[in-house]
This record gives sequence, C-alpha cells and structure tokens, in this order.
Amino acid sequence: MEGREFLNKILKEMKKCIVGYETVIELLTISLLSEGHVLLEGVPGIGKTTIAKNFANIFGLKFSRIQLMPDMMPSDITGFYYYNQKTGDFVLKKGPIFANIVLADEINRTPPKTQSALLEAMQEKAVTIEGKTFKLEEPFMLIATKNPIDHEGVYELPEAEKDRFMFKIDIDYPREDEEMSMLLRKHEEKFYETNQIMTPIDLKYAMIDVKKINVNDRIFEYICGIVRSTRTDDRLEHGASPRASEHLLYASKALAFLNGRNYVIPDDIKFLAEYILSHRIKVKPEYGLEGMSEKDVIKDIINKIEVPK
Ligand SMILES: Nc1ncnc2c1ncn2[C@@H]1O[C@H](COP(=O)(O)OP(=O)(O)OP(=O)(O)O)[C@@H](O)[C@H]1O
Ligand SMILES: [Mg+2]
Repeated sequence: MEGREFLNKILKEMKKCIVGYETVIELLTISLLSEGHVLLEGVPGIGKTTIAKNFANIFGLKFSRIQLMPDMMPSDITGFYYYNQKTGDFVLKKGPIFANIVLADEINRTPPKTQSALLEAMQEKAVTIEGKTFKLEEPFMLIATKNPIDHEGVYELPEAEKDRFMFKIDIDYPREDEEMSMLLRKHEEKFYETNQIMTPIDLKYAMIDVKKINVNDRIFEYICGIVRSTRTDDRLEHGASPRASEHLLYASKALAFLNGRNYVIPDDIKFLAEYILSHRIKVKPEYGLEGMSEKDVIKDIINKIEVPK
C-alpha cells in the first residue's frame, strides 16, 4: 500500500472515535512503523486512552493497559511464576507487557524500581523473569502517559528511560470548534470504536517499505549537526544522545513514506525534531526562569543550522 493511502486510512478510521489530534495520530503511526515508543503528556480527560486503544484496533493488534501505581512491583508488569498444586510445576503467568501495543498509564506514579522493568522491554523488546529472558510480541510499542500538572506522589522519569522514547508528544486541549463538534457527536451518540481495517501483514509490508527509503549523506550531516549542537549549547544542562540521532533517522524515513516519497528531505527532520529532542535535553534553570523552554532552544538550533540543498 502506498504511504499516503496508509496514513489516510488510519486518520479516517480514527475519526470515528476522536475529534482532532491528527498530528498525534500521525506521530503514533510513524512510531509504530519505525519501532519506537511514545510518551504522551497531557492532562486527564483529554482522550489519551481513547486514542491509544483505538489505534491498536486498526491493525487488529493485541492491546493491554497498565495503570501504574506507587505500590506496584516489576512482576505486575512482566509476569511471574506460580506454583500449580495440581501438576506440581511452576507455571509462568505472563504480565500485561506481553501485547503489541501497551498503554502504561501515569508512568511517573510508580517508583524507579518498577519503571526499570520497562527499560529492558523498551530497548531489548524482551523481559527477564526470575533469570529467564522472554521475547515480547512483535511489533511491540509502549505508549506511556504522564500528567504534567501532577507534582505530588510522582517520580521524575530516569534519563535512561526518557531517552528510550522516540517521541514525547504534548497533547493540548482541543480547539473550540473541535470541542463543540465533540459535544454534538456525544449528544447524538455518534462516536464508535475503530474497526480493524488493516492486517498485521499490511503493517509488516509498510515497515519493509520504510526501511527502503533513501537517505542522502547531507541528511545524515543535518541530523548529526542538529543533535550535536544540543550538546554544546550554553543554555542546556545536557544535550541529546546518539539514540536521539538514530530515532531522528528512523522516524524521518517513516514520515517520508507516509508523505509518498522514497527519500528523506530536511523538512521531515525539522518537523520531527521537537518531538524527538525536547524530552532528552534540559534548559539550565537561569534560562528556564527567563521563560525559555526546551522547544525554544530546539527551534533556535534548527534556525541556525544550514539546511542541506
Ligand atoms: N477530542 C476528543 N474527541 C472525542 N472524545 C473526546 C475527546 N477528548 C476527550 N474525549 C472524551 O473524553 C473522555 C475521556 O477520554 P480518555 O479516557 O481517553 O482521556 P484520558 O486522557 O485517557 O484521561 P485520563 O488521563 O484521566 O486517563 C472520553 O469519554 C472521550 O471520549
Ligand atoms: Mg486514560
């Protein structure tokens, strides 16, 4: 299937369950195509669960949801062995991480020890339970949510965990016309769950097409230039990792595919940079007090770096 048709089919089906958020859905699609994970940041009741669950339906993928809580153990995520009295054996009870699309709600409500169960899952696509390693489902995508206005009883995500997310997406409130349209459709009961409209095989073929997208040397230089600039910028406490460069590359190939091109252009990188870099860099407090944000610095860096022709 051609890339543009692939995206349009998804956007059209998602309209059944949600008003607006086309960019969020496009970024989720890019992430799925390039085997990335997504951190959704947004206040309660903004449609995060609705988007994630219905997105999984589209490909008939197995979906699971984990509500993270302060007293949770890593085994609540990964699974555990229990003793079966009838057979006298230890039997594996797989945890909710064994699904294709896993929604980890309020990821920062659980202590680092439990969050660390996600680190191996995110990078290795495997989990270790009592010394034995198990491969996760394929494809595997973690969608984590975080509420930006909660400050009590939450834990800052470790840098190593943040770095494993391809994108951080800030979900803003809908526009007024969108909220009005939502009310009307709620009133008329015209929201529906999405159906499966593509198979996992369609997804697999699209992923193969993404791998074939051409990337010019100038684009490699452009990615390197942007990411490396974050490491030497005086306004930042720390810059982005090589994993960020890698994610920019993979995501830009998926975006090129969805735009019906077989090569990456600088605009792909420009569009993706804020979603890929903002959670991996940190503005120094003195600049933060002046109202400068991570996104401002990224915009500035992009404006300064020469765009390849
Ligand atoms: N843009 C929208 N279009 C249609 N319905 C919406 C939209 N935004 C929110 N809703 C509705 O608001 C309700 C809450 O949505 P949902 O549970 O997905 O939010 P959430 O962001 O996951 O909240 P929480 O952080 O509390 O889990 C649902 O009934 C959903 O249908
Ligand atoms: Mg929710």
